[in-house]
Amino acid sequence: MEVGVVFGNGGLPERTDKVMANAAAATAFTARDSTAPGGSVESRAICTDAPHGSVRGVEPNDAAFAFGPYRCHPYQRLLLEGETPVRLGSRAFDILVALLRKRGELVSKDELIAEVWPDTFVEEGNLRVHMTALRRALREQDGTSRFICTVPGRGYRFIAPVSECASRPAAASVLASVPSATGLPVSVTPMFGRSDFVRTLLAQLPAQRFITIVGPGGVGKTRVAVASAEAINGRYADGIHFVNLGSIMRAAEVGASLARALGIEPAGGNLVPRLVSQLMHRQMLLVIDNCEHVIEAIADLIERLLVGAPHVHVLATSREPLRSAGEWVRRLPPLYCPPKCERLSAAEAMTYPAVQLFVDRISASDEAHALNDDNAPLVAEICRRLDGMPLAIELAAGRVQAFGIRGLVAQLNEPMRLLSGGRRTADARHQTLSAMLDWSHRMLSEAERVVLRRLAIFPGEFTLSAACAIAADAGGSPSVAEGIASLVSKSMVIADLTDDVVRYCLLATTRAYALGKLSASGELDILARRHAAHARSEC
Ligand SMILES: Nc1ncnc2c1ncn2[C@@H]1O[C@H](COP(=O)(O)OP(=O)(O)OP(=O)(O)O)[C@@H](O)[C@H]1O
Ligand SMILES: [Mg+2]
Repeated sequence: MEVGVVFGNGGLPERTDKVMANAAAATAFTARDSTAPGGSVESRAICTDAPHGSVRGVEPNDAAFAFGPYRCHPYQRLLLEGETPVRLGSRAFDILVALLRKRGELVSKDELIAEVWPDTFVEEGNLRVHMTALRRALREQDGTSRFICTVPGRGYRFIAPVSECASRPAAASVLASVPSATGLPVSVTPMFGRSDFVRTLLAQLPAQRFITIVGPGGVGKTRVAVASAEAINGRYADGIHFVNLGSIMRAAEVGASLARALGIEPAGGNLVPRLVSQLMHRQMLLVIDNCEHVIEAIADLIERLLVGAPHVHVLATSREPLRSAGEWVRRLPPLYCPPKCERLSAAEAMTYPAVQLFVDRISASDEAHALNDDNAPLVAEICRRLDGMPLAIELAAGRVQAFGIRGLVAQLNEPMRLLSGGRRTADARHQTLSAMLDWSHRMLSEAERVVLRRLAIFPGEFTLSAACAIAADAGGSPSVAEGIASLVSKSMVIADLTDDVVRYCLLATTRAYALGKLSASGELDILARRHAAHARSEC
C-alpha cells in the first residue's frame, strides 16, 4: 500500500550564526535539508530517448542524484542502477528529475505536468501512465514504495534519502578543462543533510576569502568542507589543494605541511615568505583541515597568505575559530532529528538527515535491521539522544549488529562505553567517542578542564548565574564565566542565544565524557550537593 503522509516544510532556517544554538532545540525543527554533494560516479552509458538537457533548467555541471542503488544524471539523461543503464522513457525521466529536485516535498500533479509538458495541455491520465513506467523502472512492486509515495488526490513525494554527487561530463574535452581537486579525500559513503549549508557557504566564498567551518568534533566539518570544494572544482584557475593538519603534532610543522600539499620543497629557510611569493599570482582554494591544535601558527600563516596572495581563498575547518584578520566563521550545526513523537512512521523518519545517516550505515553492515514503522521511533530516539552528531550516529549504527536497535537505546546512558569500534580506516580520533573527545580535552587549559567537568552536573540547560553558583570555589576560582566563554568558542559548550537570557548546555556525548572526568576527580558528591541546594534555592 502506498503511504500518503504530509510533512510540515516550514520551520527555522539552518543555524549559521556565530554561535550554534542549543543542539537539543534542533530536534524541534521541521525544516530539513536532506542532501548535499558528495562522492562521485562514473558515467558509463547514456540511456535516452530525448536530447541532452531537455529537462528545464538543466546545466552541464548539475550534480547527479544518488538514491538506493541508482544514480540519476540529469544532463546526460542517464539513469544507472549500479553501473548498468536503466531503460526509461523521456517523460518518465523528466518526472524523476522533477521529484528528485524537490525530494521530501509534496509535488502536486499540476506542478509535475507543467514541468514535464511545459507547452502542451495534457490529461492527468498521461502523468499516471508515465509514473507507472517510472515505478516499474525503479522496480517498485505493487504495494511497496521505496522511493516515490503517492499523496492521494494531491501529488507525489520522493521519500528515499538522496545525495548529490558530481556528475562527470562524458566528453573528454570537457574533463580536460577542469583542474583537478588535488588531494581532496574521496568519500565512499553518501552525505546527508547539508545542501543548504553548502549552498550558502559557496555563495559567500567568492566575497569572503577566508571561511572557517567551526563545530564540535565529529559534527561533519571535514565532510562539508570537502563536499563544498568538490562542488566548485573548476572555479579556481590553479585548482583546489587540501592540507590535513590532523596528521602533524607540532606548530612548527604547519608551513612544511602546506608546502608539501602544494608541491613546494619545504627544505631551506624562510619558508613562509617563499610560500607567499609562490602563491602571489595564483588563483586557488586552500582547504585547510583540522586547525584547532596548531591554531596560532596556522592563523598567522593564513593571515600572511591573504595579504601577500590576493587571489588565494581559504576554507578551513576547526573546533575553534582561528580569530585571525579576515576570518568568516560558519558554525556547523548537528543534523536534524525527528521530534519526539510516538507514532512516527518509517517514511516520516526518513525525511530527517540524522535518520538517513543511521539507516544508511546500518544497511551497510546489517540488512536484518531495516527501518520499519515499529522501530522508527526508536531510531529517532537514538539520533535525538546523540544530538544529531554524525560521528556518534555512525558509531552507534556500528553497534546495532551486536545489540539490536532496542538494545542500543537501552545502553545509550553510557555512550562512552557503547560508542567505540569505528571504521578501521578512520582517523584514530574517530575510532571511539572518547578518543574524539580526548582530542579536544587535551587542548583545554587546566582551568577550562575544571569548569567543563563541573558543568557536567547539569543534566540539561543552565544559565551563567547557575553555573557560577555551582562551579566556582569559595574564592571565585576558577573564573566560570571566562571558562564558559572559551569552552563555547572551542565547541565544548553550546550557547543558545535566541532568548534574552543566554542558556548553555553540553551535548549529551560531551556531558557523558565530562561526567567521567568529574567522577574521577572526586568532586562529584560535592557538586551534586551544590546543584541540589541551588535547585532548592531557586524554588
Ligand atoms: N552529513 C553527513 N552525512 C553522512 N556522513 C557524515 C556527515 N557528516 C559527517 N559524516 C561522517 O561522520 C564522521 C565525522 O565527520 P567529520 O570527520 O567530517 O567530522 P569533523 O567535524 O571534521 O570532526 P573532527 O573535529 O574530529 O575533525 C565521518 O565518518 C563522516 O563521513
Ligand atoms: Mg575534521
